[in-house]
Amino acid sequence: MTQFNEQTSSIGADSNSTDGKIVIIDIGEGYTKVGIAGDEYPIIFPTMTGTEKYQSVMSDVGTKGQYVGEDCMRMRGVLKITYPINRGAIMDWDSFYAVLTHIFFNVLRVDPSKVNVIYTENALTPLETRKYITRLLFETYRVKSVYLANASVMALFSAGLTTGILLESGEGLTWVVPIIDGRIVTHAIQRLTLSGKDVSEYLRTLLLGYGINFTSSAQRDILREIKEQNCFIALNPAEVAKNTTDVTTYILPDGESAKIPISVRVNAPEILFHPELLGYNVSNVAQAIINSIMKLDRQYWRTMLRNIVLSGGNTMFQGFNFRLEEELKKVLPQLGSLPKPTTTEVSLNKPKMVNVTTPIKKIDTCPKCGERVNLAINSFCMKCGYKFEVTSINIPSNLQYPNKCPTCKRKIDNPGPFCPFCGGVINPIPSIKFGGLGAVELPPQIEKLEQVKATEFEDDILIDEGGEIIKIILPSNRNTAIFNGASVLGSIPSARKLFISYEQYLKDPNAIALDFSQLL
Ligand SMILES: Nc1ncnc2c1ncn2[C@@H]1O[C@H](COP(=O)(O)OP(=O)(O)OP(=O)(O)O)[C@@H](O)[C@H]1O
Ligand SMILES: [Mg+2]
Repeated sequence: MTQFNEQTSSIGADSNSTDGKIVIIDIGEGYTKVGIAGDEYPIIFPTMTGTEKYQSVMSDVGTKGQYVGEDCMRMRGVLKITYPINRGAIMDWDSFYAVLTHIFFNVLRVDPSKVNVIYTENALTPLETRKYITRLLFETYRVKSVYLANASVMALFSAGLTTGILLESGEGLTWVVPIIDGRIVTHAIQRLTLSGKDVSEYLRTLLLGYGINFTSSAQRDILREIKEQNCFIALNPAEVAKNTTDVTTYILPDGESAKIPISVRVNAPEILFHPELLGYNVSNVAQAIINSIMKLDRQYWRTMLRNIVLSGGNTMFQGFNFRLEEELKKVLPQLGSLPKPTTTEVSLNKPKMVNVTTPIKKIDTCPKCGERVNLAINSFCMKCGYKFEVTSINIPSNLQYPNKCPTCKRKIDNPGPFCPFCGGVINPIPSIKFGGLGAVELPPQIEKLEQVKATEFEDDILIDEGGEIIKIILPSNRNTAIFNGASVLGSIPSARKLFISYEQYLKDPNAIALDFSQLL
Protein backbone atom coordinates (compact mmCIF):
# COMPACT_ATOMS: atom_id res chain seq x y z
CA MET A 1 0.00 0.00 0.00
CA THR A 2 2.93 2.28 0.52
CA GLN A 3 3.13 5.39 -1.52
CA PHE A 4 6.42 6.51 -0.11
CA ASN A 5 8.95 7.45 -2.64
CA GLU A 6 12.21 6.39 -1.04
CA GLN A 7 14.08 9.11 -2.89
CA THR A 8 12.02 11.74 -1.21
CA SER A 9 11.29 9.99 2.03
CA SER A 10 13.20 10.90 5.16
CA ILE A 11 15.67 8.12 4.44
CA GLY A 12 18.37 9.65 2.36
CA ALA A 13 16.84 13.09 2.55
CA ASP A 14 18.86 16.05 3.72
CA SER A 15 18.58 15.87 7.49
CA ASN A 16 17.68 19.54 7.73
CA SER A 17 15.03 19.26 5.09
CA THR A 18 11.51 18.19 5.91
CA ASP A 19 10.90 16.91 2.36
CA GLY A 20 9.47 13.40 2.38
CA LYS A 21 9.14 13.38 6.15
CA ILE A 22 6.06 12.45 8.09
CA VAL A 23 4.12 15.27 9.65
CA ILE A 24 1.88 14.39 12.59
CA ILE A 25 -1.25 16.43 13.15
CA ASP A 26 -3.44 16.07 16.24
CA ILE A 27 -6.00 18.86 16.22
CA GLY A 28 -7.76 18.69 19.57
CA GLU A 29 -10.67 20.76 20.72
CA GLY A 30 -8.48 22.61 23.20
CA TYR A 31 -4.95 22.23 21.92
CA THR A 32 -3.32 21.25 18.64
CA LYS A 33 -0.20 19.11 18.77
CA VAL A 34 2.00 18.88 15.68
CA GLY A 35 5.49 17.78 14.76
CA ILE A 36 7.62 15.52 12.62
CA ALA A 37 7.64 11.73 13.18
CA GLY A 38 10.45 10.81 15.53
CA ASP A 39 10.15 14.09 17.48
CA GLU A 40 10.03 13.55 21.22
CA TYR A 41 7.72 16.48 21.89
CA PRO A 42 5.12 18.15 19.70
CA ILE A 43 4.64 21.84 19.20
CA ILE A 44 1.44 22.73 21.06
CA PHE A 45 -0.83 25.69 20.46
CA PRO A 46 -4.43 26.43 21.42
CA THR A 47 -6.96 25.44 18.76
CA MET A 48 -8.52 28.82 18.22
CA THR A 49 -8.73 31.52 15.59
CA GLY A 50 -9.75 35.14 15.91
CA THR A 51 -10.62 38.14 13.82
CA GLU A 52 -10.43 41.72 15.02
CA LYS A 53 -13.51 43.00 16.78
CA TYR A 54 -12.78 46.59 15.81
CA GLN A 55 -11.41 48.10 12.62
CA SER A 56 -7.76 48.91 13.13
CA VAL A 57 -6.89 52.61 13.04
CA MET A 58 -3.33 51.96 11.82
CA SER A 59 -4.19 49.17 9.42
CA ASP A 60 -0.72 48.91 7.84
CA VAL A 61 1.15 48.42 11.13
CA GLY A 62 1.49 44.74 12.04
CA THR A 63 -2.16 43.84 11.82
CA LYS A 64 -3.46 40.61 10.40
CA GLY A 65 -6.85 39.57 9.16
CA GLN A 66 -6.84 36.40 11.14
CA TYR A 67 -5.00 35.24 14.23
CA VAL A 68 -4.40 31.58 15.03
CA GLY A 69 -3.12 29.72 18.07
CA GLU A 70 -0.73 31.55 20.39
CA ASP A 71 -1.13 34.83 18.48
CA CYS A 72 -4.85 34.59 18.95
CA MET A 73 -4.47 33.77 22.62
CA ARG A 74 -2.20 36.78 23.12
CA MET A 75 -4.57 39.15 21.35
CA ARG A 76 -7.78 37.56 22.67
CA GLY A 77 -8.93 40.77 24.36
CA VAL A 78 -9.50 42.52 21.03
CA LEU A 79 -10.51 39.53 18.93
CA LYS A 80 -13.71 37.76 18.11
CA ILE A 81 -12.65 34.21 18.87
CA THR A 82 -13.77 31.04 17.12
CA TYR A 83 -13.10 27.53 18.35
CA PRO A 84 -13.41 25.29 15.27
CA ILE A 85 -14.24 22.08 17.15
CA ASN A 86 -17.06 21.51 19.57
CA ARG A 87 -17.60 18.21 21.37
CA GLY A 88 -15.40 16.46 18.83
CA ALA A 89 -17.20 17.77 15.73
CA ILE A 90 -15.72 20.34 13.33
CA MET A 91 -18.24 23.17 13.53
CA ASP A 92 -16.41 25.95 11.71
CA TRP A 93 -14.58 24.78 8.60
CA ASP A 94 -13.04 28.20 7.80
CA SER A 95 -11.45 28.28 11.21
CA PHE A 96 -10.33 24.66 10.74
CA TYR A 97 -8.63 25.50 7.40
CA ALA A 98 -6.92 28.42 9.11
CA VAL A 99 -5.53 26.06 11.75
CA LEU A 100 -4.27 23.60 9.10
CA THR A 101 -2.64 26.39 7.09
CA HIS A 102 -1.06 27.73 10.25
CA ILE A 103 0.35 24.25 11.01
CA PHE A 104 2.01 23.78 7.62
CA PHE A 105 3.21 27.28 6.86
CA ASN A 106 3.82 28.99 10.20
CA VAL A 107 4.41 26.32 12.81
CA LEU A 108 6.25 23.58 10.91
CA ARG A 109 7.24 25.71 7.92
CA VAL A 110 7.03 22.80 5.49
CA ASP A 111 5.90 22.56 1.91
CA PRO A 112 2.81 20.36 2.34
CA SER A 113 3.23 18.90 -1.15
CA LYS A 114 6.49 17.32 -0.04
CA VAL A 115 5.39 15.65 3.17
CA ASN A 116 3.34 12.65 4.25
CA VAL A 117 0.73 13.18 6.95
CA ILE A 118 -0.47 11.16 9.92
CA TYR A 119 -3.74 12.80 10.88
CA THR A 120 -5.18 11.57 14.18
CA GLU A 121 -8.91 11.29 14.57
CA ASN A 122 -11.36 10.15 17.20
CA ALA A 123 -12.91 6.72 17.26
CA LEU A 124 -16.33 6.73 15.59
CA THR A 125 -15.56 9.73 13.34
CA PRO A 126 -18.14 9.52 10.55
CA LEU A 127 -16.75 8.12 7.31
CA GLU A 128 -17.94 11.23 5.43
CA THR A 129 -15.86 13.48 7.69
CA ARG A 130 -12.83 11.22 7.29
CA LYS A 131 -13.18 11.32 3.52
CA TYR A 132 -13.59 15.07 3.56
CA ILE A 133 -10.46 15.62 5.65
CA THR A 134 -8.52 13.26 3.38
CA ARG A 135 -9.66 15.18 0.30
CA LEU A 136 -8.83 18.44 1.97
CA LEU A 137 -5.28 17.30 2.69
CA PHE A 138 -4.85 16.02 -0.86
CA GLU A 139 -6.67 18.67 -2.86
CA THR A 140 -6.04 21.85 -0.88
CA TYR A 141 -2.63 21.10 0.57
CA ARG A 142 -1.52 18.50 -2.01
CA VAL A 143 0.26 16.32 0.54
CA LYS A 144 2.03 13.23 -0.80
CA SER A 145 0.23 10.60 1.26
CA VAL A 146 -2.06 10.34 4.26
CA TYR A 147 -2.71 7.95 7.12
CA LEU A 148 -5.76 8.63 9.27
CA ALA A 149 -4.69 7.18 12.60
CA ASN A 150 -7.07 6.42 15.40
CA ALA A 151 -6.18 8.67 18.33
CA SER A 152 -6.96 6.06 20.98
CA VAL A 153 -4.81 3.39 19.36
CA MET A 154 -1.95 5.91 19.12
CA ALA A 155 -2.30 6.83 22.81
CA LEU A 156 -2.25 3.16 23.82
CA PHE A 157 0.75 2.64 21.58
CA SER A 158 2.55 5.46 23.40
CA ALA A 159 2.28 3.38 26.58
CA GLY A 160 3.94 0.51 24.71
CA LEU A 161 0.75 -1.54 24.56
CA THR A 162 -1.48 -2.88 21.82
CA THR A 163 -4.05 -4.41 24.17
CA GLY A 164 -5.71 -2.41 26.92
CA ILE A 165 -8.52 -0.02 27.71
CA LEU A 166 -7.91 3.64 27.11
CA LEU A 167 -9.44 6.47 29.11
CA GLU A 168 -8.88 9.48 26.88
CA SER A 169 -10.20 12.73 28.28
CA GLY A 170 -9.50 16.02 26.56
CA GLU A 171 -11.19 19.38 26.28
CA GLY A 172 -14.45 18.32 24.64
CA LEU A 173 -15.00 14.59 25.06
CA THR A 174 -14.02 11.64 27.15
CA TRP A 175 -13.64 8.27 25.48
CA VAL A 176 -13.30 4.81 26.88
CA VAL A 177 -11.89 2.65 24.12
CA PRO A 178 -11.05 -1.04 24.57
CA ILE A 179 -8.38 -2.23 22.18
CA ILE A 180 -7.32 -5.83 21.61
CA ASP A 181 -4.20 -6.48 19.58
CA GLY A 182 -4.40 -3.03 18.00
CA ARG A 183 -8.05 -3.47 17.02
CA ILE A 184 -10.73 -1.31 18.55
CA VAL A 185 -13.72 -3.17 19.95
CA THR A 186 -16.18 -0.70 18.46
CA HIS A 187 -19.36 -1.89 20.15
CA ALA A 188 -17.80 -1.42 23.61
CA ILE A 189 -16.64 2.20 23.07
CA GLN A 190 -18.07 4.70 25.55
CA ARG A 191 -18.29 8.35 24.56
CA LEU A 192 -18.97 10.85 27.33
CA THR A 193 -19.81 14.50 26.89
CA LEU A 194 -17.96 15.14 30.11
CA SER A 195 -14.46 16.54 29.92
CA GLY A 196 -12.09 19.44 30.49
CA LYS A 197 -14.51 22.15 29.40
CA ASP A 198 -17.09 20.82 31.85
CA VAL A 199 -14.60 21.01 34.70
CA SER A 200 -13.94 24.64 33.65
CA GLU A 201 -17.68 25.26 33.53
CA TYR A 202 -18.20 23.86 37.01
CA LEU A 203 -15.24 25.91 38.23
CA ARG A 204 -16.96 29.00 36.78
CA THR A 205 -20.15 28.14 38.69
CA LEU A 206 -18.27 27.58 41.94
CA LEU A 207 -16.33 30.84 41.55
CA LEU A 208 -19.60 32.72 41.04
CA GLY A 209 -20.40 31.78 44.61
CA TYR A 210 -17.35 33.82 45.64
CA GLY A 211 -18.26 36.85 43.53
CA ILE A 212 -15.86 36.04 40.69
CA ASN A 213 -17.70 36.18 37.39
CA PHE A 214 -16.35 34.97 34.06
CA THR A 215 -18.52 35.41 31.01
CA SER A 216 -16.74 36.41 27.78
CA SER A 217 -15.13 33.89 25.45
CA ALA A 218 -11.66 35.24 26.26
CA GLN A 219 -12.32 34.63 29.92
CA ARG A 220 -12.88 30.96 29.11
CA ASP A 221 -9.13 30.67 28.65
CA ILE A 222 -8.43 32.36 31.97
CA LEU A 223 -10.71 29.86 33.64
CA ARG A 224 -8.86 27.06 31.89
CA GLU A 225 -5.58 28.42 33.18
CA ILE A 226 -6.87 28.71 36.76
CA LYS A 227 -8.13 25.14 36.51
CA GLU A 228 -4.90 23.68 35.14
CA GLN A 229 -2.72 25.44 37.69
CA ASN A 230 -4.81 25.07 40.82
CA CYS A 231 -7.38 22.29 40.75
CA PHE A 232 -6.68 18.80 42.05
CA ILE A 233 -8.54 15.61 42.89
CA ALA A 234 -8.72 14.25 46.41
CA LEU A 235 -9.70 10.83 47.72
CA ASN A 236 -12.01 12.52 50.19
CA PRO A 237 -12.94 15.96 48.79
CA ALA A 238 -15.50 16.68 51.52
CA GLU A 239 -12.75 16.46 54.16
CA VAL A 240 -10.41 18.72 52.16
CA ALA A 241 -13.15 21.27 51.50
CA LYS A 242 -13.66 21.77 55.26
CA ASN A 243 -10.42 23.74 55.37
CA THR A 244 -11.56 27.37 55.11
CA THR A 245 -8.21 28.99 55.72
CA ASP A 246 -6.43 27.70 52.61
CA VAL A 247 -6.98 30.35 49.92
CA THR A 248 -4.95 30.69 46.70
CA THR A 249 -4.49 34.02 44.95
CA TYR A 250 -4.66 34.19 41.16
CA ILE A 251 -3.67 37.41 39.41
CA LEU A 252 -6.11 38.20 36.60
CA PRO A 253 -4.85 39.83 33.36
CA ASP A 254 -6.24 43.20 34.44
CA GLY A 255 -4.08 43.15 37.57
CA GLU A 256 -6.95 42.33 39.90
CA SER A 257 -6.49 39.32 42.11
CA ALA A 258 -8.98 36.52 42.60
CA LYS A 259 -9.00 34.62 45.89
CA ILE A 260 -9.79 30.97 45.33
CA PRO A 261 -10.62 28.79 48.34
CA ILE A 262 -9.38 25.19 48.46
CA SER A 263 -12.98 23.91 48.40
CA VAL A 264 -13.34 25.32 44.87
CA ARG A 265 -10.03 23.86 43.73
CA VAL A 266 -10.92 20.39 44.94
CA ASN A 267 -14.62 20.39 44.02
CA ALA A 268 -14.38 21.57 40.40
CA PRO A 269 -12.92 18.31 38.99
CA GLU A 270 -15.43 16.32 41.09
CA ILE A 271 -17.85 16.41 38.17
CA LEU A 272 -15.73 13.73 36.48
CA PHE A 273 -16.90 11.36 39.19
CA HIS A 274 -20.25 13.05 39.83
CA PRO A 275 -21.60 14.43 36.52
CA GLU A 276 -24.96 14.98 38.19
CA LEU A 277 -23.39 18.05 39.85
CA LEU A 278 -23.77 19.80 36.49
CA GLY A 279 -27.12 18.17 35.85
CA TYR A 280 -25.65 15.79 33.27
CA ASN A 281 -27.17 12.41 32.73
CA VAL A 282 -24.00 10.58 31.74
CA SER A 283 -21.92 7.91 33.46
CA ASN A 284 -18.96 8.99 35.50
CA VAL A 285 -15.53 7.98 34.20
CA ALA A 286 -15.16 4.91 36.45
CA GLN A 287 -18.63 3.63 35.57
CA ALA A 288 -17.93 4.17 31.88
CA ILE A 289 -14.85 1.92 32.13
CA ILE A 290 -16.87 -0.83 33.78
CA ASN A 291 -19.70 -0.41 31.22
CA SER A 292 -17.18 -0.84 28.44
CA ILE A 293 -15.52 -3.89 30.00
CA MET A 294 -18.93 -5.49 30.53
CA LYS A 295 -19.47 -5.43 26.79
CA LEU A 296 -16.33 -7.46 26.15
CA ASP A 297 -15.96 -11.19 26.18
CA ARG A 298 -15.27 -12.23 29.79
CA GLN A 299 -11.90 -13.66 28.91
CA TYR A 300 -10.56 -10.11 28.41
CA TRP A 301 -11.89 -8.59 31.63
CA ARG A 302 -8.82 -9.19 33.73
CA THR A 303 -6.44 -8.08 31.00
CA MET A 304 -8.41 -4.86 30.54
CA LEU A 305 -8.59 -4.09 34.26
CA ARG A 306 -4.83 -4.44 34.45
CA ASN A 307 -4.19 -2.28 31.40
CA ILE A 308 -6.18 0.88 32.02
CA VAL A 309 -4.22 3.60 30.24
CA LEU A 310 -4.86 7.30 30.87
CA SER A 311 -4.46 9.87 28.14
CA GLY A 312 -5.52 13.46 27.51
CA GLY A 313 -4.90 16.68 29.43
CA ASN A 314 -8.01 16.26 31.54
CA THR A 315 -6.48 13.21 33.27
CA MET A 316 -3.56 15.34 34.45
CA PHE A 317 -5.16 16.58 37.65
CA GLN A 318 -3.05 15.69 40.66
CA GLY A 319 -4.56 12.62 42.29
CA PHE A 320 -6.71 11.59 39.31
CA ASN A 321 -5.32 8.05 39.11
CA PHE A 322 -5.66 7.33 42.84
CA ARG A 323 -9.24 8.50 42.90
CA LEU A 324 -10.08 6.60 39.71
CA GLU A 325 -8.76 3.43 41.30
CA GLU A 326 -10.93 4.01 44.38
CA GLU A 327 -14.02 4.69 42.29
CA LEU A 328 -13.32 1.63 40.14
CA LYS A 329 -13.14 -0.55 43.24
CA LYS A 330 -16.60 0.72 44.20
CA VAL A 331 -18.18 -0.25 40.88
CA LEU A 332 -16.10 -3.38 40.27
CA PRO A 333 -18.67 -5.69 41.94
CA GLN A 334 -21.00 -4.91 39.02
CA LEU A 335 -18.85 -7.28 36.98
CA GLY A 336 -19.82 -10.06 39.39
CA SER A 337 -17.14 -12.67 39.64
CA LEU A 338 -14.08 -12.20 37.54
CA PRO A 339 -12.79 -15.02 35.40
CA LYS A 340 -9.98 -16.97 36.91
CA PRO A 341 -6.56 -15.55 36.02
CA THR A 342 -4.61 -17.54 33.52
CA THR A 343 -0.91 -18.09 33.61
CA THR A 344 -0.65 -16.65 30.13
CA GLU A 345 -1.92 -13.20 29.13
CA VAL A 346 -4.99 -13.43 26.95
CA SER A 347 -4.42 -12.42 23.40
CA LEU A 348 -6.47 -12.90 20.28
CA ASN A 349 -3.51 -14.31 18.48
CA LYS A 350 -2.66 -16.91 21.06
CA PRO A 351 -4.23 -20.36 20.74
CA LYS A 352 -6.85 -20.89 23.39
CA MET A 353 -5.43 -24.06 24.93
CA VAL A 354 -5.32 -23.21 28.59
CA ASN A 355 -5.60 -25.91 31.21
CA VAL A 356 -8.35 -25.41 33.74
CA THR A 357 -7.98 -26.57 37.30
CA THR A 358 -11.34 -27.81 38.49
CA PRO A 359 -11.99 -28.60 42.17
CA ILE A 360 -14.08 -31.75 42.49
CA LYS A 361 -15.97 -30.62 45.57
CA LYS A 362 -17.25 -27.05 45.41
CA ILE A 363 -18.46 -26.61 49.00
CA ASP A 364 -17.11 -28.43 52.04
CA THR A 365 -17.35 -28.17 55.82
CA CYS A 366 -14.25 -27.29 57.77
CA PRO A 367 -13.30 -30.33 59.88
CA LYS A 368 -11.79 -28.05 62.53
CA CYS A 369 -14.50 -25.44 63.17
CA GLY A 370 -17.53 -26.55 61.14
CA GLU A 371 -17.54 -23.45 58.88
CA ARG A 372 -18.91 -23.94 55.33
CA VAL A 373 -16.15 -23.17 52.82
CA ASN A 374 -16.60 -22.47 49.13
CA LEU A 375 -13.69 -24.34 47.62
CA ALA A 376 -14.21 -22.61 44.30
CA ILE A 377 -13.06 -19.43 46.00
CA ASN A 378 -10.74 -20.53 48.81
CA SER A 379 -8.71 -23.59 49.55
CA PHE A 380 -8.63 -22.69 53.26
CA CYS A 381 -11.18 -21.93 55.96
CA MET A 382 -11.68 -18.20 56.35
CA LYS A 383 -12.56 -18.68 60.04
CA CYS A 384 -9.81 -20.89 61.44
CA GLY A 385 -7.35 -21.05 58.56
CA TYR A 386 -7.59 -24.85 58.07
CA LYS A 387 -6.05 -25.76 54.71
CA PHE A 388 -8.14 -28.14 52.62
CA GLU A 389 -6.59 -30.77 50.42
CA VAL A 390 -8.33 -29.85 47.18
CA THR A 391 -8.24 -32.71 44.76
CA SER A 392 -8.10 -31.21 41.36
CA ILE A 393 -7.45 -32.28 37.86
CA ASN A 394 -6.27 -30.38 34.88
CA ILE A 395 -8.53 -30.65 31.89
CA PRO A 396 -6.79 -29.74 28.68
CA SER A 397 -9.03 -27.98 26.23
CA ASN A 398 -7.70 -30.24 23.50
CA LEU A 399 -8.68 -33.82 24.28
CA GLN A 400 -6.29 -36.51 23.14
CA TYR A 401 -7.38 -39.44 21.01
CA PRO A 402 -5.68 -42.79 20.33
CA ASN A 403 -3.94 -42.97 16.95
CA LYS A 404 -5.56 -46.34 16.17
CA CYS A 405 -9.26 -46.77 15.37
CA PRO A 406 -10.89 -49.16 17.90
CA THR A 407 -13.32 -50.37 15.16
CA CYS A 408 -11.26 -50.87 11.98
CA LYS A 409 -7.89 -50.95 13.80
CA ARG A 410 -6.27 -48.71 11.20
CA LYS A 411 -3.53 -46.21 12.12
CA ILE A 412 -4.65 -42.55 12.08
CA ASP A 413 -2.18 -39.69 11.69
CA ASN A 414 -4.28 -36.86 13.18
CA PRO A 415 -6.76 -38.68 15.41
CA GLY A 416 -10.06 -37.03 16.33
CA PRO A 417 -13.48 -38.12 17.63
CA PHE A 418 -14.29 -40.02 14.37
CA CYS A 419 -12.25 -42.48 12.33
CA PRO A 420 -11.50 -41.02 8.87
CA PHE A 421 -11.61 -44.57 7.36
CA CYS A 422 -14.66 -46.28 8.86
CA GLY A 423 -16.44 -43.33 10.55
CA GLY A 424 -16.43 -45.16 13.89
CA VAL A 425 -16.51 -43.21 17.12
CA ILE A 426 -13.17 -42.79 18.88
CA ASN A 427 -13.26 -42.07 22.59
CA PRO A 428 -10.60 -39.75 23.99
CA ILE A 429 -7.81 -41.22 26.06
CA PRO A 430 -8.98 -41.24 29.71
CA SER A 431 -5.68 -39.88 30.95
CA ILE A 432 -4.08 -36.50 30.61
CA LYS A 433 -0.70 -34.91 30.58
CA PHE A 434 -0.07 -32.85 33.65
CA GLY A 435 2.79 -30.43 34.15
CA GLY A 436 5.17 -32.54 32.11
CA LEU A 437 4.93 -35.41 34.62
CA GLY A 438 3.57 -37.80 32.06
CA ALA A 439 0.18 -39.47 31.76
CA VAL A 440 -1.85 -39.51 34.94
CA GLU A 441 -4.76 -41.93 35.37
CA LEU A 442 -7.93 -40.23 36.53
CA PRO A 443 -9.28 -41.49 39.84
CA PRO A 444 -12.50 -43.46 39.09
CA GLN A 445 -14.81 -41.03 40.93
CA ILE A 446 -13.85 -38.13 38.68
CA GLU A 447 -13.72 -39.86 35.35
CA LYS A 448 -17.01 -38.23 34.47
CA LEU A 449 -15.33 -34.85 34.48
CA GLU A 450 -13.49 -35.55 31.32
CA GLN A 451 -16.83 -35.34 29.53
CA VAL A 452 -17.20 -31.75 30.73
CA LYS A 453 -16.44 -29.44 27.91
CA ALA A 454 -13.41 -27.54 29.07
CA THR A 455 -13.67 -23.84 28.53
CA GLU A 456 -10.99 -21.29 29.06
CA PHE A 457 -12.57 -20.11 32.30
CA GLU A 458 -15.13 -21.56 34.60
CA ASP A 459 -18.42 -19.81 35.02
CA ASP A 460 -18.55 -19.20 38.70
CA ILE A 461 -15.02 -18.35 39.78
CA LEU A 462 -13.27 -16.15 41.25
CA ILE A 463 -12.50 -12.71 42.56
CA ASP A 464 -8.82 -12.76 43.28
CA GLU A 465 -8.86 -11.29 46.77
CA GLY A 466 -5.14 -11.05 47.24
CA GLY A 467 -3.96 -10.16 43.75
CA GLU A 468 -3.89 -6.72 42.22
CA ILE A 469 -6.93 -6.56 39.96
CA ILE A 470 -6.82 -2.95 38.79
CA LYS A 471 -3.74 -1.36 37.33
CA ILE A 472 -3.74 2.15 35.94
CA ILE A 473 -0.97 3.08 33.55
CA LEU A 474 0.06 6.72 33.27
CA PRO A 475 2.06 7.64 30.15
CA SER A 476 4.47 10.41 31.12
CA ASN A 477 3.06 13.18 28.89
CA ARG A 478 -0.60 12.38 28.94
CA ASN A 479 -1.69 15.50 27.10
CA THR A 480 0.56 14.54 24.18
CA ALA A 481 0.17 10.74 24.35
CA ILE A 482 -1.61 10.64 20.98
CA PHE A 483 1.16 12.58 19.29
CA ASN A 484 3.84 10.47 21.00
CA GLY A 485 2.27 7.22 19.79
CA ALA A 486 1.94 8.57 16.25
CA SER A 487 5.51 9.85 16.37
CA VAL A 488 6.79 6.37 17.23
CA LEU A 489 4.56 4.75 14.62
CA GLY A 490 5.76 7.18 11.97
CA SER A 491 9.35 6.19 12.68
CA ILE A 492 8.73 2.50 12.02
CA PRO A 493 9.55 1.69 8.38
CA SER A 494 6.79 -0.95 8.14
CA ALA A 495 4.19 1.72 9.03
CA ARG A 496 4.61 3.10 5.53
CA LYS A 497 2.24 0.55 4.14
CA LEU A 498 -0.56 2.28 6.06
CA PHE A 499 -0.31 5.47 3.99
CA ILE A 500 -2.37 6.01 0.88
CA SER A 501 -1.74 8.31 -2.03
CA TYR A 502 -4.27 10.53 -3.79
CA GLU A 503 -4.47 8.10 -6.71
CA GLN A 504 -5.26 5.25 -4.35
CA TYR A 505 -7.82 7.38 -2.58
CA LEU A 506 -9.56 8.21 -5.85
CA LYS A 507 -9.58 4.57 -6.86
CA ASP A 508 -11.00 3.42 -3.53
CA PRO A 509 -11.99 6.10 -0.99
CA ASN A 510 -12.62 3.36 1.57
CA ALA A 511 -8.89 2.60 1.61
CA ILE A 512 -8.58 5.30 4.29
CA ALA A 513 -10.07 2.79 6.70
CA LEU A 514 -6.74 0.94 6.88
CA ASP A 515 -6.16 -0.45 10.29
CA PHE A 516 -3.04 -0.18 12.42
CA SER A 517 -3.47 -3.82 13.52
CA GLN A 518 -2.29 -4.85 10.06
CA LEU A 519 1.21 -4.16 11.28
CA LEU A 520 1.00 -6.59 14.18
N1 LIG B 1 -2.22 20.00 34.16
C1 LIG B 1 -3.51 19.92 33.88
N2 LIG B 1 -4.41 19.67 34.85
C2 LIG B 1 -5.72 19.60 34.55
N3 LIG B 1 -6.25 19.77 33.33
C3 LIG B 1 -5.39 20.01 32.33
C4 LIG B 1 -3.99 20.09 32.54
N4 LIG B 1 -3.40 20.34 31.35
C5 LIG B 1 -4.39 20.41 30.44
N5 LIG B 1 -5.59 20.21 31.04
C6 LIG B 1 -6.91 20.23 30.40
O1 LIG B 1 -6.95 19.20 29.44
C7 LIG B 1 -7.76 19.61 28.36
C8 LIG B 1 -6.98 19.54 27.10
O2 LIG B 1 -6.48 18.25 26.97
P1 LIG B 1 -6.07 17.71 25.55
O3 LIG B 1 -5.03 18.57 24.97
O4 LIG B 1 -5.79 16.27 25.69
O5 LIG B 1 -7.45 17.88 24.81
P2 LIG B 1 -7.72 18.20 23.29
O6 LIG B 1 -6.96 17.24 22.47
O7 LIG B 1 -7.46 19.63 23.03
O8 LIG B 1 -9.28 17.95 23.22
P3 LIG B 1 -10.08 16.73 22.62
O9 LIG B 1 -9.18 15.53 22.72
O10 LIG B 1 -11.30 16.63 23.46
O11 LIG B 1 -10.37 17.12 21.20
C9 LIG B 1 -8.19 21.01 28.63
O12 LIG B 1 -9.47 21.00 29.20
C10 LIG B 1 -7.15 21.48 29.62
O13 LIG B 1 -7.65 22.51 30.41
MG1 LIG C 1 -7.23 15.25 22.02
